[in-house]
Amino acid sequence: MTPKRLGIGCFIFCRISMEMKRMLLAEETLFRDEESFSFDHVPDVFSFRDNQLNAMAAALKPAKRNRKAANLLLIGGPATGKTTAVKIIFEQLSGPVCVRINSEIAASPYRVFSEIHRKILGFLPPDTGISLPAIYDKIFGRLLREKKYLVVALDDVQYLLSDMNKVLYDLLRAGESYPGAGVSVIAVTDKNIMQKLDDKVRSVFQPQEIRFPEYTAEETFQILKQRRDAGLYPGVLEDSLLREIAAAAYAKHDIRLGIEAVRKAAVNAEAEASPSIERKHIVLEEASLPKEESELLAFIPAEGIKSGDLYAHVEEKMGYTKFYRVLQRLEAAGAIEAEAIRGAGNSRLIKKR
Ligand SMILES: Nc1ncnc2c1ncn2[C@@H]1O[C@H](COP(=O)(O)OP(=O)(O)O)[C@@H](O)[C@H]1O
Ligand SMILES: [Mg+2]
Repeated sequence: MTPKRLGIGCFIFCRISMEMKRMLLAEETLFRDEESFSFDHVPDVFSFRDNQLNAMAAALKPAKRNRKAANLLLIGGPATGKTTAVKIIFEQLSGPVCVRINSEIAASPYRVFSEIHRKILGFLPPDTGISLPAIYDKIFGRLLREKKYLVVALDDVQYLLSDMNKVLYDLLRAGESYPGAGVSVIAVTDKNIMQKLDDKVRSVFQPQEIRFPEYTAEETFQILKQRRDAGLYPGVLEDSLLREIAAAAYAKHDIRLGIEAVRKAAVNAEAEASPSIERKHIVLEEASLPKEESELLAFIPAEGIKSGDLYAHVEEKMGYTKFYRVLQRLEAAGAIEAEAIRGAGNSRLIKKR
């Protein structure tokens, strides 16, 4: 064989192997840690929030030694890191009993105090037949015996509606009914709730306010980058594609969209056995969003429908969190109104406008 012919042979062989794209083997995955993308994951790196974390830690420091600590009001739009900040602070705060209440789920005084009871005594009080004061006796009796301070975070407190006053008041006045009991409340919300509070509640609450501003475009990108590096193997998603995802998430002011888009893109790439994410694998929620909204609207009759009944129509298509977000967007867009149904937990009557 002449050197020349060998050269041509090699050239052809190399072209063929270049065109044989590497495919993922059945057992291979692009995820280094899929859990990084889960909804309630607390990331190892939590950037751009040092000021807020430091302010929270300083305000709560006396609680470590059972001394009166400040109350806090955390204010910021969706996905600005409020819940994560509370979880991180609670992990670090040794000494007091710390309870985070999801007020969207525990949307009545009874449910809020039942959750606190569960955290402190290890089990829920019976569903009926036990009064709120009896639950307070159990909670504060135990705390006093164990000489423990209580820090309660009422997350998304706006969902408590008018019950917000009772919950805050009963928590903050506990020291009077149970001398020696110490409680701090962290109210977490998207807008200032102070004007919704009764005067007597405002005077016992007097929180230190901590703001969670929206992330800038660059911060959004950096946060998504950290999440990519934690969740995917190196080289799976290149920066330029990640920037596109970050831009879409920034435009919607919702970093969650970006986190979910990265996860979905990796799932789609895996489904095609592709070793890296390509543009065609990226589905930004924008495309599917109006469809979900109009689907949901179609199930709302003229006389309105209870939120739980509405959810039953779509639960096979979307999880509760997604359902809730679509509802929120419809409400924000003025397409529906939702009013609380008294005495029905967190159930709301949804009506078209
Ligand atoms: N600074 C940050 N660094 C890393 N991840 C963040 C940061 N801020 C928010 N996130 C992520 O964005 C999502 C929403 O955050 P979350 O704390 O639930 O926001 P909020 O309670 O304000 O709605 C979570 O997945 C969270 O991990
Ligand atoms: Mg939250």
